[in-house]
Order: sequence, then C-alpha cells, then structure tokens
Amino acid sequence: MHTLLIVDDDPDVLAALRRAFRKGYNVLTADNGSAAISILNEQTVHLIICDQRMPGVTGEQVLEHALFKQPDAVRILLTGYSDMESLVACVNEAHIYKYVAKPWDPQELSFTVARALDAYDLKRRLDEAQGLLESAYEDAVLMLCIAAEGKDEDTSSHLYRVRHYTETLAIAMGVPAEQAEHMGLMSMLHDIGKLSVPDEILKKPGKLSDDEWVVMKTHSMAGVRILGGNMFYGTAREICAGHHENYDGSGYPYGIKGSDIPLSARIVKVADVFDALTTKRPYKDAWPVERAMAEINDKKSIMFDPDIVVQMQKLFETGELRAILDMGEEAAVARFHPKKAV
Ligand SMILES: [Fe+2]
Repeated sequence: MHTLLIVDDDPDVLAALRRAFRKGYNVLTADNGSAAISILNEQTVHLIICDQRMPGVTGEQVLEHALFKQPDAVRILLTGYSDMESLVACVNEAHIYKYVAKPWDPQELSFTVARALDAYDLKRRLDEAQGLLESAYEDAVLMLCIAAEGKDEDTSSHLYRVRHYTETLAIAMGVPAEQAEHMGLMSMLHDIGKLSVPDEILKKPGKLSDDEWVVMKTHSMAGVRILGGNMFYGTAREICAGHHENYDGSGYPYGIKGSDIPLSARIVKVADVFDALTTKRPYKDAWPVERAMAEINDKKSIMFDPDIVVQMQKLFETGELRAILDMGEEAAVARFHPKKAV
C-alpha cells in the first residue's frame, strides 16, 4: 500500500484530505513543516501533498527537504494564493510533479494522486529492471574474463587492478565518472582475444619464435571479433584493438599513432604494462613501483601517451598507485563487485 503524507496548517483541510484518501492509502498527516520534515526523516513516503503557505517551515522548504531525503517521492503542492513568482520558484527548485489550487476538485485530485503513483511504480520497476540488466552485463564481462584467465597465467587480481588503474587514470584525464567506470569494466576484456591463441603458444615457457609472435599478435583483433557488434562493448572493442598500439606508431595491429589510438586503449596500455611490471610473472620478478614508474616515464611518447604518463606520475607521487597495487584481490572484488564479495 502506498503511503501519503499530507501537510497543511489548516485542520479542516487536513481532515478533508485525510477523509478523501483514507481508503486505499496509508495516510500520514502533519499540521506544520517541522513535523513533516520529521516524518520524512523517519518513514518512507511515496507521495506528499503539501500546503505552500505555512507559518515557520514553509511548503517549499518541506518539498525541498523531500527532494533531498526521498527524491523518488511524488511532490504535489497545494496552493491557496496566486503568487506566481514564488510558485514558479517552488516548482523549479523542488521538482514538483503538480500544483493544485485551493479549493481543489476532489475527483481531480484523487485522479492526479492515482496517476502519479502509477508513474512512481512504473519508474521503480524500470529502475529495478535497469539494475538487473546492468548487473547481467557486468556478470557477462566477468564470465568472459574468467574464461580467458583459464587459458592464461594472469590472475583475476591482475584484471581487477587494471580496471582500477584504468578508471582512476580516466578520471585524471577528465573522463566523466560514469564513463570512466564503464571504461574500467571494459578494460578487463583487453586480452579476451587470447581465447583464440593456441595454448602451446600462450603458455610457452620460453621465447616465442617469429611465427609464434605473428599468431600471438592476432589476439588484439580476435578480441574485437569475440565481442561482436553490441553497442555496450564498443569501448571494449576499442581497447582490444588498440592496447598494443604505440604512441609513436610502432605498435600493432595497425601501427596507428597519437590520438588516432582511442583514449581508452591508450589508458589501458599504461595500466596493463604498469601492472605487468609491478607483479610477479612466470618469466620475471615483480619490479618495485619506482622502477616500473621510471620505465613508464622512459617510454613516454614512444609507447605511451605523454599526458597519461603525467597523470600516472601524479598518482604515483600521491601514493595512489601503490594503494591499488597493495589492494589485494579480496579488496578489489569488494570495491568493484560488491555483490560477489558477500
Ligand atoms: Fe594484450
């Protein structure tokens, strides 16, 4: 059952509205703004009908508080006088669903409330569906990564760290937070194309022959093919294709350079190489962070975008890079995939 909060300093109005909605709704009432704010702080409310002009805390202030405290609750303003300026300000600032002039038409008000609550329920169902869809996409990414890890020596902690370095660097490069988060998730797919590289090459303990290198290098574009045409994986395709390109054009598969390489791929390249250098691999020990950072600086403008290296250096100086490196798998999973950490 939906809960309505009715706020008015006139006891007759309050009683009339309570009578009008007591059937079919859980009705709460407040005869002043402070009492309404207390209710909003303590109970979930689905819709508020609030008088505009009240002594003390005004209707505008109550609805603004509701916007902050319970942003999904529908806000209806009951107004007994026609001060257009203050009405417009109230509608704009408190994002009011509708204003109703006193005296109101009971049938019309009851219809307005029912329609507003239908919209509220629909939005909640859409939010739930979107949340489910997003977690399904994220699970699909993780499943693909886990499948690829089975073929490679990389551990999942490597992928989580690359994700965190990528997201942090993207934000440092001015990418909006939501896009940076998505880029971080997509970075985990950078080597998904290794699924198509035969094990005898992927897991070969010694150096690869020239012919084997040719096969190994196909993993960039193999990743693009595996990800298919879905728009959701657009950034991941850029990353797969571009994470072995070099800033000076000496990389593969296409030898493109500079800003022709997508920003996402330039960022993941730094993140991936830094993590490979600072962690133990079958063919090398873990390098100290200082040595890895010096190597990244040495390859500035050759392998790496110099602007990204500058941001990386700043993160190194603030201790952020070491914090990510020391995070450990459990903390990384908790940070990026809280549902899996439970
Ligand atoms: Fe790769």
